[in-house]
Parts: sequence; structure tokens; C-alpha cells
Amino acid sequence: MRSRRRSKDNKVALDGKKILLVVTGGISAYKSAYLVRLIKRSGAQVRVVMTDAATRFVTPLTFEVLSGNPVQTDIFARRELPTVEHIELATWPDRVVVAPATADFIGSVASGMAGDLPRAVVCATAAPVYMAPAMNDGMWANPAVKRNISILEKDGRRMIAPGSGELACGTSGSGRMAEPEEIMAVLERSFEPGPLEGIRFLVTAGRTIEEIDPVRYISNHSSGRMGFAIASRAMELGAKVTVIHGQVDVPPPGVDVIREVRSASQMKTAVLRSLPRCDVLVMAAAVSDFRPSRRAKEKIKKETGIDSIELVKTADILSAVRDRKKSSQIIVGFALETVDGEKNAVRKAAAKGCDYMVLNMAGADTGFGTDTNQVTLFKGARKLETSPLTSKDRVAGMIVDMLAADGRLGKAKR
Ligand SMILES: Cc1cc2nc3c(=O)[nH]c(=O)nc-3n(C[C@H](O)[C@H](O)[C@H](O)COP(=O)(O)O)c2cc1C
Repeated sequence: MRSRRRSKDNKVALDGKKILLVVTGGISAYKSAYLVRLIKRSGAQVRVVMTDAATRFVTPLTFEVLSGNPVQTDIFARRELPTVEHIELATWPDRVVVAPATADFIGSVASGMAGDLPRAVVCATAAPVYMAPAMNDGMWANPAVKRNISILEKDGRRMIAPGSGELACGTSGSGRMAEPEEIMAVLERSFEPGPLEGIRFLVTAGRTIEEIDPVRYISNHSSGRMGFAIASRAMELGAKVTVIHGQVDVPPPGVDVIREVRSASQMKTAVLRSLPRCDVLVMAAAVSDFRPSRRAKEKIKKETGIDSIELVKTADILSAVRDRKKSSQIIVGFALETVDGEKNAVRKAAAKGCDYMVLNMAGADTGFGTDTNQVTLFKGARKLETSPLTSKDRVAGMIVDMLAADGRLGKAKR
């Protein structure tokens, strides 16, 4: 009997999974032949697509024999049946692995190009894509390549970082493709349930707007970045995520459900509607505290003028949540302050019945409209920790990891 790769609990690690391996034109394509072996041994089905350049390094026949499946290379090849091959290949796998990933392939995928079969498949697939870059150290250090890698990471593609060592060009440095065993370990981990598997997150993001007349409104500088980063991190850890957002300056992440609203009152309605179906509510949106007492039906003309705008308080979402929430639900509030931050955050947590409070101080690099943030986390009135000034993604990681460690979520898992 052939040996099959077993996980720690002695199960065949990738049993029944479908892996599409994309091989591109680098010397380390020879290592991908062994990767096919490892994937097969772990119980998965493998199909291979190759770029034209890749076929100069290793023949399709090698991959056909090892994978037990035909290898596709040509987007325009005539088929026995009239199928659209690149779409069939894009929808088939549970995971796509690009190994090796050349500088050229990385650049094309980063800019959404689909000029050959492997590029079209990666462009079209909704499956998670893992890329193992492999190139000469000079190429790896090139700022354009770095830029493309960071675009891909932002787009949710996962990089399996290359190592350092002897390179095919005769030099030594970084850019050497991760070993097949490392790529396998990443693949296996990708199927393990995350710590938030089965947990339902409801995250609000962005700013609400309160209209003065059909063309003018009151709002704030919130960009949506913080809430979206929290939603992405919760997804990464396995949560089911619903996002309700107002106006934003960045595209929303790929989560389970997205709803867009405009005013505080619409956000309140949307939050209360979704509240019964969440285990954690993270209120990262910057909801306007005030709205004009009346909205003019027509544009207020400059000539007519307006002496003043009377403001009244908007719908208080957190107070409404406090009055309706189940005791098992975890509520996370945000406080953006300019003075007396800690005192105000603790007071707000108590008044609004928040389990956790995230305090941001508005500054040049923190709070609204920035890529970075610095926050202090409170559990009720107890100060937990203050983050360094760092990216909103890292701050989101810290917040979501803190929530994942809350014992109540273990009980909420279904
Ligand atoms: C001997 C040889 C080795 C190469 N190794 C690499 C490599 O490791 N990484 C890389 O990015 N390009 C490498 N190239 C260049 C690519 O093959 C070339 O950019 C090709 O157009 C990539 O096409 P593809 O991305 O469609 O596979 C190599 C070329 C040759 C001739």
C-alpha cells in the first residue's frame, strides 16, 4: 500500500481536497514535481496547469504522470468537448498553489492580467491562492516586484516567502523558492479550522452622513479602514462576518454579507436587524452624534442664505443594542477622543454596556483617515493594553485576537 501523508491526529491531511498547481517558468519548477507527489500522498486530487515558459523547464508529461491528470497549458487548445477550460479550472479547486511564481507571473496577476491559461485561471478563481515566489536575488530585491507582492497581499493572495541560499544563477541570496515540504505545511494549515470557526461577527465601519439639504451633509473623517481590517482579520480566523458600512474611502473586504447605509438612523435599523444573529458586535463605524433638526427639501440657495443649522442628537445605536442584547453576546465599542481619553472611554463603556472598549486618540497618525493607529483596549473599566503606533491591520489583529481569547466565544461555537 502506498504511504499517505498523515497529520498529527493520524488523519490523511488533505483527504478529498482539490488542489490546482500552477507551474511557471523558473528553474525551481523541478521541485514542483516533488510537490505534486506530496500533495497526492496526503490524499488530495491534483491538477496542474503550466505556463509556456514552465514547459521549457519540465515537460507536461512529468506532471501528468505524477498527478494522474492531463496537464493544461494552452487557453485556445481545441478540446473534445466545448468547455471554457480556464473557467472550469478556476471553479474546480479548493486551493490554488502557484509554485514557482516568477516575477513576471506575480506582476501580471497583481495587475489583473489574464494573457495565458494559468494567468486567466488565477484571475478568475474564487479559491484561496497561495504563491511561492522564486527568482534571482536581484529580481527579488527589485522595488517593482516588491510593490506587486504587496498589491497581491492586499488583494488577499497568500505569499509563501522564499528562503535564502544557493540560487540557480550561481549566486547565493534570497529568492529561493520555499521547499515543497514548507509549501505542503502551509496548505495543510490552510484547511485547519480557525479559532473563530462558527462564530458570527457583525462589524460596522466608515462614517454616517446626516443631510442638510439634497446636496450638503454633516459627517466626519472616518475612512472605513479600521472596521474593514477587523472584518478581514475575523474572516481569516474562520468567523462568519457581516459588515454594515456607511461612506468609506477604501473598498470593502470580501466577507459573507455587506450592507451599505447612509445615516445614523439607517445604521441603527440595520444593526438591530442583524443583532440577533451575531455573537460579537464590533461598532467601529464613526456614527454622527448630531444631525440637522430638519432637512431642506430643495438645495438652500446662496442668495437666500441660512443663519444657522439647528442640530439634534442622532439615534444612539449602542444604547439600543445594550437594551436588546443577550448576555452571551459580546459588544465592542470604539471611543475616539481628543482629551481625557481613558476617563471618557471607561465612562462610555459603562454607560453603553460595552464588554470591550477601544480608545483611539485623534492625531496626525492615529484615529480617522490614516493608515496607522494606536489604541488602548479596555475590558469594562479595566485597562488591558496599549498598542504601539502601527498599521490598522496590526491593530485589528490585536483586537480580534483579544476577542478570540474570550472564553464566552467557546460556548457560542455551533
Ligand atoms: C534558465 C532560466 C531560469 C529562469 N529562472 C527564473 C526564476 O527563477 N524566476 C523568474 O521570475 N524568472 C526566471 N526566468 C525568467 C522567466 O522564465 C521569464 O521571465 C518568463 O517569461 C516567465 O514566464 P511565465 O511567468 O509565463 O512562466 C528564468 C529564465 C531562464 C532562461
